[in-house]
Amino acid sequence: MQWQIPGGAALHGSLHVPGDKSISHRALMLNALADGQAQIDGLLEGDDCLATAEALRSMGVPITRHGPGQYHVQGVGRHGLTAPDDPLSLGNSGTSMRLFCGLLAPQRFATTLLGDRSLSRRPMARVIRPLNAMGARIEGKANRPPLTITPTDRLVPVRYGLPVASAQVKSAILLAALYADGETQVSEPAPTRDHTERMLSAMGVPIEVNAERHLISITGPAELKSLSVSVPGDPSSAMFFVVAATLAAASSVTVRRVGINPTRIGALDILRQMGARIALDNRRDVGGEPVADIVVEKAALTGIDVPPELVPLAIDEFPVLFVAAANARGTTRFSGIGELRHKESDRIAVMIRGLRAMGVTCEESEDGAVVTGGAYNGAAIDAEDDHRIAMAFAVAGLTAHSPLMLAGTETVATSFPGFVDACTSLGWTIEEVQH
Ligand code: S3P
Repeated sequence: MQWQIPGGAALHGSLHVPGDKSISHRALMLNALADGQAQIDGLLEGDDCLATAEALRSMGVPITRHGPGQYHVQGVGRHGLTAPDDPLSLGNSGTSMRLFCGLLAPQRFATTLLGDRSLSRRPMARVIRPLNAMGARIEGKANRPPLTITPTDRLVPVRYGLPVASAQVKSAILLAALYADGETQVSEPAPTRDHTERMLSAMGVPIEVNAERHLISITGPAELKSLSVSVPGDPSSAMFFVVAATLAAASSVTVRRVGINPTRIGALDILRQMGARIALDNRRDVGGEPVADIVVEKAALTGIDVPPELVPLAIDEFPVLFVAAANARGTTRFSGIGELRHKESDRIAVMIRGLRAMGVTCEESEDGAVVTGGAYNGAAIDAEDDHRIAMAFAVAGLTAHSPLMLAGTETVATSFPGFVDACTSLGWTIEEVQH
């Protein structure tokens, strides 16, 4: 299937986006290790989180579905997981792979973690190195999946300074630290999403966060109390509609009940600096995470130098921010974004290639990109099986002067099942055509 986007639509209305991917993974994993039962509502039923649920089931965790997004997890306790019969297949999901490294390293059985073609190319040394320093035994050829984890006698606490800002690596260390005897400290070069810290704290784990020093301390061994979770809408999914409504003709869109955790909404700050008109209404707290309705009106954007300190807070949004930049007056400079080369695809290269094919003036460097706004045409583009690239180019198609054809869109279901229907409900046509 390819997507054909005719462009020219005006967007109106309101919608809900699916549950937050990061919170969904954590709600499943942490409740599996807890003592007791938990109800999860609004779980993202995308391929990535379903892979996490399936892996946990194969290790003896009863996880049952009661309705759309509604799951019941019967925790088995920290030592209650059992050896799976087969390797764990984690598909496209980097979050599952890296967090499971931390969760499985302390177990008394061996596991093998498999990924799809894209995940098998992604670097795992960043998570293997600190965990092995704690006494774990994780191996992979050239530090890439498949990974094998063999049991170890015990884990010891570490003090570890993350060389790159990564919530996945931070979370893997915190999970392993639940089993280590003593205080583990992780420091980050810059703040990253803190869902693990919030959830562990709500589950009764002794965890302390020094916000000024970007330092997290956790004392093990620690038991977890089950926590029912109402998962907010994923801000990373909402951001495609925020940019679309900013750019499309005479548009006005409300995305309801979206997570606005400050570690996740750097893209809103960047877009506002470019001139976007975005309001956060009806702010409230849902289960330890701040939530709001995001109200967006069409606005004219101007290019900026994107502040590097916002990069980790907007890390998954750069594909769609490149599209915003292609529609802005003047030039936008992105720097310090080298991590994008290690995502589901090399997101700098794939975005620049696609935007160039549409006639956008842009160039890339090792850890940055420069995009100059202006009129552009549709083209035939390959999203290279990267969900966020596909959705970003769907947004680009809205303002192209001729139809855009997009291949490689199937993985959109990893984070946003129902994306095409959500677009259609606002008046944004995406035709699915056979190629
Ligand atoms: C995630 C952390 C980020 C992000 C990914 C989800 C998480 O990855 O890009 O989509 O849930 O912890 P890194 O830790 O590699 O930056």
